[in-house]
Amino acid sequence: MKNKNNQTWKGLEGKATSYADVGLSLYLRKAFLASAGYDSIDLDRPLIAILDTTSDYTTCHRDMPSLVQAVKRGVLEAGGLPFVSPTLSLGEILISPTSMLYRNLLAMETEEVLSCYPMDAAVLLGGCDKTLPAQLMAAASANLPSISVVTGPMRTGSWRGQRLGACTDCRNYWNKYRGGEINQEELGEIQNALCPSGGTCMVMGTASTMACLAETLGLMLPGSATAPSGSGDRLRIAVTSGRQAVKLAREPIRPRDILTRSAFNNAITVLMALGGSTNAIIHLLALARRAQVNLTLEDFDAFSSVPLLVNCKPTGAYWLEDLHEAGGVPVLLKALESLLDLDTRGLTGKTMKELLENQSPPENWQNIIQTLRSPFVSAGSLVILKGSLAPQGAVIKAAAATPKLLNHRGPAVVFESPKDAAQRIDDPSLKITSNHVLVLRNAGPVGCGMPEAGSLPIPSYLAQKGVKDIVRVSDARMSGTAFGTVVLHCSPESATGGPLALVKNGDLIELNVSEQRIDLLVEKTEMERRKGLLIKHQLPKRGWRRLHAQHVLPAHLGADLDFLVPTR
Ligand code: FES
Repeated sequence: MKNKNNQTWKGLEGKATSYADVGLSLYLRKAFLASAGYDSIDLDRPLIAILDTTSDYTTCHRDMPSLVQAVKRGVLEAGGLPFVSPTLSLGEILISPTSMLYRNLLAMETEEVLSCYPMDAAVLLGGCDKTLPAQLMAAASANLPSISVVTGPMRTGSWRGQRLGACTDCRNYWNKYRGGEINQEELGEIQNALCPSGGTCMVMGTASTMACLAETLGLMLPGSATAPSGSGDRLRIAVTSGRQAVKLAREPIRPRDILTRSAFNNAITVLMALGGSTNAIIHLLALARRAQVNLTLEDFDAFSSVPLLVNCKPTGAYWLEDLHEAGGVPVLLKALESLLDLDTRGLTGKTMKELLENQSPPENWQNIIQTLRSPFVSAGSLVILKGSLAPQGAVIKAAAATPKLLNHRGPAVVFESPKDAAQRIDDPSLKITSNHVLVLRNAGPVGCGMPEAGSLPIPSYLAQKGVKDIVRVSDARMSGTAFGTVVLHCSPESATGGPLALVKNGDLIELNVSEQRIDLLVEKTEMERRKGLLIKHQLPKRGWRRLHAQHVLPAHLGADLDFLVPTR
């Protein structure tokens, strides 16, 4: 809709402060902004918000201040007025119990900032795992023209001639330390080399996966997902995104115009081809629901035949800077062209077909993006499971699992919570063998915010014997950088009485990935009997944690808050 000056944007006149006098509201705004040095030349422009998630707690965002400046420059060059506003920052590593507990809080806060301040478009600066999904969810709900910019991945480090990447190698070398393969001194040297620059984890973890998916969906500029943090490419992307935001203010394309079912289909195709993080399944489900797109866990099954084309850790051999050098998402999309819906349209206004018209396919010199004719793995990087242990679904990253464990039957060893597992996992009296199935419960969204505790450590006495993997089952999540035969997101979760709550030590559990099943081999009548004995899970007593536990939806619905999902 255009205003009286035939403009699509409202600038400072948007969203008047409620004094029951719109004229006074505008007058006060101008008076107070005059104190900050703004005059009528400044204020007669589209207003572009830049949402900044810089924090000393979020080292992945440590280059964000330079991105803020670059976006501002782009906005000013294009004739807009940039206003920077901080929001909550979610750094994966320093938050307890898990940043996932706060994804919806950041989404809610961001939606409110987008809705309460005057702005004609927004640039959302994120990067670390939960920041980008939260911002996308907020953008879908506020439906304000928005463009995402991420900090980009870290550069790789090196130790004694070996390239290192957080956090796949964090886990790798920690496991080696637990298994006695490296000593304390070596572990310390590696610690200083794992994260050599600002930026997000430089493997195909959740941050990189979500950046690639945001680009595929069309909520980020083409080619902008993979540029390393601190690089010239990354800064130029920020400047261009600032310019694009002003264009969006003048010719609005809104998130819900972009977030169609076809766009989600393309994103899931790319997720499979990336061998991306299992967390992306939860985030895509939540985002789709915000955008009023009917996407279910079962829909991911339809894409299980998409081959794995990207040779990046933790499933492959390379890192994000290599993927960027090989052309990043545009080259991957070109390789997948025949599987994509080419009519989707992102924030540039161009269709996928137009974007790919002049795009070259993967070059022969690189071994990072493969073609459909010679994929890295033929199909099934992420598999949706169902069965008596997860009637509403569970997920396994088959590409990061040990092939011989993908079909396995073994007795359960149960841990009541992540804390219980941390205390007892190395207890030799448990007599865990490589044949056992480790069960972790009370780690779902209601249980404790759904931490990345699903890839339980291998008991040190087994690690020291060279055991690298055991089947693990939980209602938790797993870091996108992790690996192993790990069944995640079992739904319904144990804290709400799901079957995981009924497992006892010694019960047989069967994982059958070829048949997409995860089953507890216990008679139905016995399950019913155990159900009758369950003690109700205690919710947190106050604050955000209580609100979250009372309203969070199950993992198979995206773990959003029920009151943030629009009803049709
Ligand atoms: Fe921030 Fe990995 S910890 S992206």
